[in-house]
Amino acid sequence: MDLENKTIVITGAARGLGAAMAKRLAAHRSRLALVDLDADSIANTASACEEAGAKVKTYGANVAKEQDVIELFQQIARDFDSLDGLINNAGITKDALLVKYKDGETLSKMTLDQWQAVIDVNLTGTFLCGREAAQRMIESGSKGVIINISSISRAGNMGQTNYAATKAGVQAMAVAWAKELARYGIRAAAIAPGFINTEMVASMKESAREKLTAGIPLRRMGEPDEIARTVEFIFQNDYISGRCIDVDGGLRL
Ligand code: NAI
Repeated sequence: MDLENKTIVITGAARGLGAAMAKRLAAHRSRLALVDLDADSIANTASACEEAGAKVKTYGANVAKEQDVIELFQQIARDFDSLDGLINNAGITKDALLVKYKDGETLSKMTLDQWQAVIDVNLTGTFLCGREAAQRMIESGSKGVIINISSISRAGNMGQTNYAATKAGVQAMAVAWAKELARYGIRAAAIAPGFINTEMVASMKESAREKLTAGIPLRRMGEPDEIARTVEFIFQNDYISGRCIDVDGGLRL
């Protein structure tokens, strides 16, 4: 796919990886529909993309809510005359041990709220946005691309029962969609980032950062633009579908 003038929806675009993806696609003069919980929070990303020459619209929506997502894609259809791509990037963590047990005593358990909140945003949000985007692409005859942002944690990670389950799930959904939607010329894929140097990580203590990077074969975290470049590559390479690309500096959990 040539990205120029293509309409791409990015969820969770206010900061972090979503903002980096938006900026990289803006350099191709793509048309960007930037989504986050609150439209005002996306202003910085939007102005950086506009400066790079992209047409940008911002949308406030909670991807975990079916009605929000249905209305979001209806509004995007009114604002842009095509839909060529979706990046399911919005995601949250609520880490906890399944059971925390010490000195003969159970101290805590992962709560149903912690489980459900992560399922709602990461898994249901990806399902809802993927479904609405696929419908528009099929109806309009667009040979679009859907990218789900998974994680190295999809292999299973301590303290992340909820998150790991969702990240395995979004990877599997990309495979299912690649198989179901190929007949319409639509591709689907996933990216599994390792530890990436986003605002959240940058605010960690130096000692914690050092401990984290010591376990990564390349001895550094990834940069957000390195994930954005993988997004760009998937869009541009028309033979990639149904696969998950690991971008983790050689780290495998
Ligand atoms: P972040 O927390 O910096 O940004 C996520 C964005 O999603 C925020 O702007 C937030 O407001 C938005 N968001 C959260 N819930 C939402 C909802 N219900 N509806 C709409 N928007 C919502 O996260 P970051 O680090 O940029 O991560 C982006 C994606 O990459 C996530 O799916 C995350 O799981 C994944 N990832 C991140 C890694 C990292 O090291 N930063 C590593 C592996 C995966």
